[in-house]
Amino acid sequence: MATRLRWLGHSCLWIESDGHRLLVDPFLTGNPKAAAQAHELNPHFILVSHGHGDHVGDTVEIARRSGATVICNYEISCWLNKKGVKAHGMQHGGGHNFAFGRCQLTLAFHGSQLPDGSDGGNPCGFVLRLNDGKKIYDAADTGLFGDMKWIGEEGLDLALLPIGDNYTMGPDDALRAVKWLQPKKVVPIHYNTFPLIAQDAAGWAQRVQQETQAQAIVLAPGDWVDV
Ligand code: NI
Ligand code: MN
Repeated sequence: MATRLRWLGHSCLWIESDGHRLLVDPFLTGNPKAAAQAHELNPHFILVSHGHGDHVGDTVEIARRSGATVICNYEISCWLNKKGVKAHGMQHGGGHNFAFGRCQLTLAFHGSQLPDGSDGGNPCGFVLRLNDGKKIYDAADTGLFGDMKWIGEEGLDLALLPIGDNYTMGPDDALRAVKWLQPKKVVPIHYNTFPLIAQDAAGWAQRVQQETQAQAIVLAPGDWVDV
């Protein structure tokens, strides 16, 4: 069994683990850096971290076509149900065992209003414990928060952290997050999609290499990483 992850640009992730296909925050249409088109993807599960358009993205279209179950907070699950999409609602701190492994929702300090102005509940991140034993933490959109220390306590194989600043952590706080999470590998996300979140990811990765034990991996949209 093995788990590998492909960055599709912005916060969109494609995860393959033991025959299971997961798609996270599928913002493809309208994403100038997208490495795939919505109609190409056939996931079993779609994870949505919060209601903003650059995360909900193409969720409805992909889920309707593929029959994927969407994993998200309760409020977004109700919104998706009304659109005829199968959704599994959860809340922070809660976990559930799915076919691919366990998914737990974590805190995220951010907003979550849905594209049509509906209440999208509270934003979240995800801890995934996959069937092959690998653990992934996708912080999604968030500022730095102290509970990242306990998220890292049980050991993480891979962390995905926003570095874009303005809407989320910037490079300095993301570096502190790496120190608290102590993942084996870390991949920066949510940067360079738009001028407002332009960042020097290579420079950030160099600081991670110098100041932590983590392996910082800068992906180009479409690149894969073994978890
Ligand atoms: Ni957001
Ligand atoms: Mn965002």
